[in-house]
Amino acid sequence: MEQTMDRRQALEALDAACGILRGNLAKFTDKFPFSCSENNFYPESENVEWTTGFVTGEYWLAYEHTGDEAFKASALRQVDSFLDRIEREIDVNHHDMGFLYTPSCVAAYRLTGSETAKKAALMAADHLIARFQEKGQFLQAWGELGAPDNYRLIIDCLLNVPLLYWATEVTGDEKYRKIALAHTKTSMANLVRPDHSTYHTYFFDPETGAPVRGSTQQGYRDGSAWARGQAWGVYGMALAYRYTHDEECIRLFCDVTDYFISRLPEDLVPYWDLEFTSGDEPRDSSAGAVAACGMLEMAKYLPEAEAARYTEMAGRMAQALWETCAVRDASVSDGLLLHGVYAKNSPYNPIPEDRGVDECNTWGDYFYMELLPRLVKDWQLYW
Ligand code: GLY
Repeated sequence: MEQTMDRRQALEALDAACGILRGNLAKFTDKFPFSCSENNFYPESENVEWTTGFVTGEYWLAYEHTGDEAFKASALRQVDSFLDRIEREIDVNHHDMGFLYTPSCVAAYRLTGSETAKKAALMAADHLIARFQEKGQFLQAWGELGAPDNYRLIIDCLLNVPLLYWATEVTGDEKYRKIALAHTKTSMANLVRPDHSTYHTYFFDPETGAPVRGSTQQGYRDGSAWARGQAWGVYGMALAYRYTHDEECIRLFCDVTDYFISRLPEDLVPYWDLEFTSGDEPRDSSAGAVAACGMLEMAKYLPEAEAARYTEMAGRMAQALWETCAVRDASVSDGLLLHGVYAKNSPYNPIPEDRGVDECNTWGDYFYMELLPRLVKDWQLYW
């Protein structure tokens, strides 16, 4: 894929995405789409799992693009649901507060000043910092706090910490930022291997806090680079630089991004694990969308030549997604981006059975859509 998505093409793609979303409003306002589609159509879900914030985020992106009040009204209704969810602590016993509350409620607060959204997002930030482990200096992934068999961090969480920087920004309370910085530092020190591939998760000793070992949850094997994990690393490092201006983030960004790019097949849609660069294994389009967003974010802070290189690659990846994965017709799918993978079983990972393989998923839809205004204008990010 040589062609780069230009502004006109990005606008056309945004129009197409908004058209699909407009058709979904009646179905997905009081209910949410399930995390991944079945035969490319989303089952209805309550506000559970780590994935519902993305549809609200898509409505905010659509509202920004079209000015259509219907998107705003649906998004604000969903903000009420997010406040209810955190107040009643429904399915929030995990680290993904940022994925849930940034594109939904932080976006709502940034765009409309909604006090409900602010309250919900701050409660989510408090919930997230309660997962901070002094021993090891990280936000614990999933499950029972302190459980020795799950005393680990996860690369995905680099996208959750911007919620904490935002919480410090609006409250003036440094405690959120301090935890964000500590978690990021621990992640950076342990997740990136010498060849610049990344571990998905990393275990620590609960008694001493010492690093123990890297391990995968959704990748092919412990020593491979799960494509979406590497993509969370790409965007995570860009966001870490945005908030810290630590030069080390630039080096790590270039390392993990260049590794990601070096493992892309010719058509630029990544396989679900970067172990694979050809053949019949499924693709994870969502990993491509996440990584491209990260490249465009980091390009804002890099010297001209480096910025141009990543901007060009992100534009080519966007064009590849548009040509091979984007939904242009609601009879094909009610999602925006085909050919994602939620979780795939392998002989070496703990996934009991395939989930959402070669399907749409809500984060793939969201990050594909976030990519488009980034190619049109100086988009003010929600993260
Ligand atoms: N954050 C979980 C995932 O990317 O599947």
